[in-house]
Amino acid sequence: SIDLSTLTRQTGLTALDYGFVNTASTQSEITYIDGNQGILRYRGYPIEQLAEHSTYLEVAWLLIYGTLPTADQLGEFDEKIRRHTLLHEDLKRFFSALPHTAHPMSVLSSAVSALSTYYEGQDPDDVELTMIRLLAKLPVIAAYAHKKSLGQAFLYPDNSLSFVDNFLRLNFGNMAEPYEIDPTLSKALDRLLILHEDHEQNASTSTVRLVGSTGANLYSSISAGIQALSGPLHGGANEAVLQMLAQIRDSGEGVGKFVERVKRKEDGVKLMGFGHRVYKNYDPRATIVKQSADEVLAGLGVADPLLDIAKELEQFALQDDYFKERRLYPNVDFYTGVIYKAMGFPTRMFTVLFAIGRLPGWMAHWREMNLDTQTKIGRPQQLYIGEPERRYPGA
Ligand code: ACO
Repeated sequence: SIDLSTLTRQTGLTALDYGFVNTASTQSEITYIDGNQGILRYRGYPIEQLAEHSTYLEVAWLLIYGTLPTADQLGEFDEKIRRHTLLHEDLKRFFSALPHTAHPMSVLSSAVSALSTYYEGQDPDDVELTMIRLLAKLPVIAAYAHKKSLGQAFLYPDNSLSFVDNFLRLNFGNMAEPYEIDPTLSKALDRLLILHEDHEQNASTSTVRLVGSTGANLYSSISAGIQALSGPLHGGANEAVLQMLAQIRDSGEGVGKFVERVKRKEDGVKLMGFGHRVYKNYDPRATIVKQSADEVLAGLGVADPLLDIAKELEQFALQDDYFKERRLYPNVDFYTGVIYKAMGFPTRMFTVLFAIGRLPGWMAHWREMNLDTQTKIGRPQQLYIGEPERRYPGA
């Protein structure tokens, strides 16, 4: 690899790299991906092992601090997060100023941005506490965005519950009766969150780093990351996949005809949940999600024809030269939506779930960047192709 900033200083040359396909913006110790072999490791641990044996909070610690926590460290981390779940009552009123039709990702990003109005100034240097607050409050904000869209009352968090159970209760519980915990649901959601926790320099993480590189605080950086994640080419793809599957079902056009339209690039139509900038092989997260989909739907007693359409679509695409030549495989978003739907989440909440999953990775990168003595403000170059100097009329 070449250090381009030195090369630029020495030669004055600028590399043009649309989409940063070949430009590393940083060194990092957090996540390793081998896109050709379909390998993903967090801090050296294979994603398959973490998904099987770990928990969301343990992986969060691992990503942020670099080692697996001891039992005491994890216990203390969990305890602190439970103590910070409450939102300021004024912030709860903030939700009533937004339309109930608002997309939950916009609500999430706005509320995280608003968090800095409560805490900014009180502890600007206390990144550790800010990370705890974000881990504790993001799921509560997410659940309130969901409840608001339904016109239902917000519940207070029940801090005797685990991270995931608390979140599920806030989404699906009500004031009238106690919430019944379903271990199948909790385990499945925890696993999905682990799979989303980090993915090195993807668009939203790069956004978090870029915003953070200006010296902006962690709340602002995470709020920007949430917005970057919302796009359909990134985290928003999980929502788009379900819409695509439903459209194939409702139109009755059949999987084969839909794939033909994708190959003709008709109206820019894409096979959502397929393809990845880094993976030129099966996304290892998609392998795990696909395996879980049958298991979770059976465990929840749900049969969904959209899962059958997804599998048929995958089979069709994997045998087709268009997808083979371009090395397009299912990515993490292809099967997650079917599981979220079976859990009872509306489609518009899918990317919010991704954001909760990705939060620890964003924070780990923000922290790593701030500890790195080589960090500079992010400021890409451009190649100017506009008009040469012109004279203003009369000047
Ligand atoms: N369906 C059909 N064709 C595709 C798809 C797709 N999903 N993805 C890529 N292609 C085609 C492109 O049209 C291009 O074809 P061409 O060579 O004829 O021009 C070729 O494959 C290469 O694709 P690029 O767009 O250059 O790949 P890039 O790395 O820039 O984009 C991306 C990656 C954005 C993920 C793309 O594959 C895509 O749009 N996929 C669908 C959206 C999606 O699932 N996003 C989630 C990504 S994972 C995540 O963020 C969590």
